[in-house]
Amino acid sequence: MPDLLKKLEREVQNCQKCSLGKARTQAVFGEGDPKAEIVFIGEGPGQKEDETGKPFVGAAGKLLDEMIQAIDLTREKVYIANVVKCRPPGNRDPLPDEIKACWPYLEKQLQTIKPKLIVLLGRHSLEEFLPGQKISQMRGKALRKNFPGLGRQVFFVVYHPAAALYQQSLKETLLNDFKKIPKILAEIEKGKENWDNGTEVANGAVANFKNKPDDKLNRSKKTIKQNKLF
Ligand code: SF4
Ligand code: URA
Repeated sequence: MPDLLKKLEREVQNCQKCSLGKARTQAVFGEGDPKAEIVFIGEGPGQKEDETGKPFVGAAGKLLDEMIQAIDLTREKVYIANVVKCRPPGNRDPLPDEIKACWPYLEKQLQTIKPKLIVLLGRHSLEEFLPGQKISQMRGKALRKNFPGLGRQVFFVVYHPAAALYQQSLKETLLNDFKKIPKILAEIEKGKENWDNGTEVANGAVANFKNKPDDKLNRSKKTIKQNKLF
């Protein structure tokens, strides 16, 4: 429902629900195909994004574009968004209160787009969806989780492109992880019946994520049990 996204975008452009609203040049709502199968979620806008109003258009964005192209997709065919919509001054990490204030926008975006796969870019995005997990342990892994507001959702975790910019080894890891994305999508397709029956996807390639559906709200740090992962 693209109209819903447009309406939400207008709301975000005028939002002052947290102090980041005062400091921004413009909010960065997110962009891409409103019916995208894949949504990439970063942390928050940087300087370039704040200036242009578009997500991932700086150096990290160029690398993200390269990665997306490496799996025969384009920016226009996916959707790209961030956890917070306004740039934290000096590119500091967004504060918990700011993330909380901004959360309903991302939630509505995801509820509208209904992607098959959510790709979490980096540890901040990871923390919001799979709290207490380490990026170094989770990267390259796909898993399914019952998430508040989204229902049963498949997530895939990769390093943030900014982290890989100046480190060749991380860049290779990032590229290798990206190359798993088409396979994960195919698994989600293949396992459709199984998903609906609430059983494990054929050949167990996508894991069932056994934790409480409300763990984001509790910020539970307990170890999450995983089945077979990519
Ligand atoms: Fe509103 Fe989010 Fe911007 Fe804060 S960061 S002002 S909550 S749009
Ligand atoms: N880093 C992010 O997390 N998001 C952007 O939009 C740009 C850089």
